Amino acid sequence: MVSADTPTFGVQNFGVYVHWPFCLSKCPYCDFNSHVRHAAVDEDRFLRAFKTEIASTAARAPGRLVSSIFLGGGTPSLMQPATVGGILDAIGKHWTVAPDVEVTLEANPTSVEATRFRGYRAAGVNRVSLGVQALDDGALKELGRLHTAQEALDAVAVARANFERYSFDLIYARPRQTPQAWADELKRALAQAAEHLSLYQLTIEPETPFATLHAAGKLIIPDDDNARALYDTTQDICTRASLPVRFSAS
Ligand SMILES: C[S@@+](CC[C@H](N)C(=O)[O-])C[C@H]1O[C@@H](n2cnc3c(N)ncnc32)[C@H](O)[C@@H]1O
Ligand code: SF4
Repeated sequence: MVSADTPTFGVQNFGVYVHWPFCLSKCPYCDFNSHVRHAAVDEDRFLRAFKTEIASTAARAPGRLVSSIFLGGGTPSLMQPATVGGILDAIGKHWTVAPDVEVTLEANPTSVEATRFRGYRAAGVNRVSLGVQALDDGALKELGRLHTAQEALDAVAVARANFERYSFDLIYARPRQTPQAWADELKRALAQAAEHLSLYQLTIEPETPFATLHAAGKLIIPDDDNARALYDTTQDICTRASLPVRFSAS
C-alpha cells in the first residue's frame, strides 16, 4: 500500500508512506495490517505492484516536493535492500525529492543485522525506527516478541552505528507494571535514545488475542488511575530529559 499526504503545510511538504504488510510472527496485541507468510514473499512482484501504485498516486498528486518517506509495517526490515532501493527510485521518478528528505524504515530487532542496514543506507534510507517495546525479558515474552532486551539494545547499537538518526518504540502500561519499574526502564531507554522515542500505552485492540484474554479476565492491564500514573511518569521523565512531548492519535 502506498499513500501520499500533504498535511497542512502545502505542496512543499509532501509525505509518502509505503506499507510492507508482513512479519515473522503476529504479536498478540497488534491489529496493524500485518501477516505471517511461511512461504517466501515474492518481493519482485511486490516491487512491481508498488511501482504501479506509486505511478497512479503520482498521477493523482503531480508536481509535489517529497520531504518525507516512511516505509512502515508490518516489518519493512524483512525487505531486501534492493526492494527498498526500487521503491525509493520509483518515488524519485514520479516526484521531485527534496535534497534533505527524511527516509525512515521501520525495523524489528529480530530482523536487524549490520550488512542489511548498510544496504538500506546505500539504497537511500537515512533514519530507522526500531520496535524495541520493552527492556524486560519477561514483558517481551508476554508481548509475544521474538527478541530479548539485550537483542533489542544490540539492534539499537547497529542503528546508531549506521544512521545519524534513529528512534525506537516502547509499550508501557503493561500488565503489573508499576510507575517505579516503568521509570527505571524509561531512564535506561533514554540513555540509548537519540532525539526521538515513541512511547505507546498498551491498547487492547478488538479481535486480537490480547482482547480475548482480556475479556476472559486472563490479561489484567492497569486501570485508569494506574494508567494515568504511568502516563504522568512518562511526561515527567521525558520533560526532565528535555525531550519535548508530542501526541499522536495513531
Ligand atoms: C506496526 S509496529 C512497527 C514496528 C515493528 N513491526 C515491530 O513491531 O518491531 C508500530 C508500533 O506500534 C506499537 N503498537 C502496535 N500495537 C499496539 C498496541 N495494541 N498498543 C500499544 N502499542 C502498539 C508498537 O510499539 C509498534 O512498535
Ligand atoms: S507489532 Fe510489529 S512485529 Fe508485531 S505484529 Fe505488529 S507489525 Fe508485526
